Amino acid sequence: MALALMTDLLREAEQHNKAVGAFNVADMEMIIGAIKAAETANTPIILQIAQARLVYSPFHLIAPMMVSAARAAKVAVAVHLDHGQTLDVIHSALDYGFTSVMIDGSALPLEQNIAITNDTLAAAKKYGAGVEAELGTIGGSEGGAEKKAITTNPETVKEFLRQAPADALAVAIGNAHGHYKGTPQLDFEALKTIHALTPAPLVLHGGTGISDEDFRRCIDCGIRKINIATANFDAFADGIRAYCARHDTPGFFGLHEAAVQGVYENVLRHIAVFNNEEKS
Ligand code: 13P
Repeated sequence: MALALMTDLLREAEQHNKAVGAFNVADMEMIIGAIKAAETANTPIILQIAQARLVYSPFHLIAPMMVSAARAAKVAVAVHLDHGQTLDVIHSALDYGFTSVMIDGSALPLEQNIAITNDTLAAAKKYGAGVEAELGTIGGSEGGAEKKAITTNPETVKEFLRQAPADALAVAIGNAHGHYKGTPQLDFEALKTIHALTPAPLVLHGGTGISDEDFRRCIDCGIRKINIATANFDAFADGIRAYCARHDTPGFFGLHEAAVQGVYENVLRHIAVFNNEEKS
């Protein structure tokens, strides 16, 4: 297949009432595992990396690898910058060939969030790339300081998207990055209200730890992109840990295969839920 546009994948997801899995990756093993799962399931995915994680995965190394893997995949794969914080990194992602970028202006006052989202839209337009924005504040941490959650105010959604017409909108509805402290309590009423206010595809961050049933409810309420990061990192580490427990002198190639397999199984499991096939 080919490097795909996030906007095309989200449109197709909307038509079939499903969500596209957006899987955070940090190295070659994670990329290989995620794409192998997408190919096994014959389902498009989004490969993404958050700006805060570039300290571990230098952009000039990881970005070409993500784009190249997407180009070579047997299914459509979009490549996305997750939680872009600065316009210089947004520009770099677009130059590397990412087909969409997120600008996270959620910590800014509304007017500044609108302004930086519009700057990002202008930059992305030159590349035909899509833009994800965020309104409200998602709790937990995605590689930075813990954030205090602020539920997306449905009343501001329409005005925000009128002034900054992003291609996708990340919402805060009780979801949080990292491991949940207790059972996630998602605000489905808020999600339904937001969905009724806008045709924009909605994005669920903090996918790790959400139950399959809640994922399906979110999809039925307009979520079209679901982010999975922590579960992918855990699957990588668990795969290696299990391999080490079975081998007295673990070698590189066995560790490599264990990491790929761990990520593969995690991505495959999530894709099966996000395809929402029982209901379609
Ligand atoms: P988790 O780490 O909770 O899966 O969240 C992923 C995410 O939303 C990335 O932006």
